[in-house]
Amino acid sequence: MPNLYQLVYTSVRKPNCDENEIVKILDSCKRNNPPQDVTGILLHSDDLFIQYLEGDKNIIKLYDMIKDDPRHKRVVLLSYGPLQERVFPSWHMGYKNLPKERIDFLTEGNDNDKNIFQSIIKGEQQSGVGAVNLLVKFFNKG
Ligand SMILES: Cc1cc2nc3c(=O)[nH]c(=O)nc-3n(C[C@H](O)[C@H](O)[C@H](O)COP(=O)(O)O)c2cc1C
Repeated sequence: MPNLYQLVYTSVRKPNCDENEIVKILDSCKRNNPPQDVTGILLHSDDLFIQYLEGDKNIIKLYDMIKDDPRHKRVVLLSYGPLQERVFPSWHMGYKNLPKERIDFLTEGNDNDKNIFQSIIKGEQQSGVGAVNLLVKFFNKG
């Protein structure tokens, strides 16, 4: 049985989730993820989250808890499956804001990325591999 899994979801950031709350979320990540050996990244824009988690199969339990967090809604699981090796081994929750210009810049000239990104933003189901590859690109890795 594989012992490493990845999970990607998108959600809509609620207005009650101001910058202060973002700091609290990252504090929770810092506190809870290292003991569970969970790594990954959390991207946010003004009104959207994308989180990529990697760890043992219990990351689905972490996801179940995060899903009910009142600071976001419309949580859509894009991908959950086995993983060969960690993409972000040393990041207990890498974090990035998603300014519009950067999204435009990164998606410019690449229709495939653009399509994937558009459907992620709309919360449509996407192949996990496509979503993960795009997230990796955002972090200029790989
Ligand atoms: C978008 C989003 C991402 C989150 N990611 C994590 C996470 O990776 N790890 C975590 O422990 N809590 C995460 N949380 C917070 C949890 O929902 C929950 O509030 C927290 O784990 C409670 O633990 P605490 O009492 O130690 O803060 C996230 C919340 C939101 C809204």
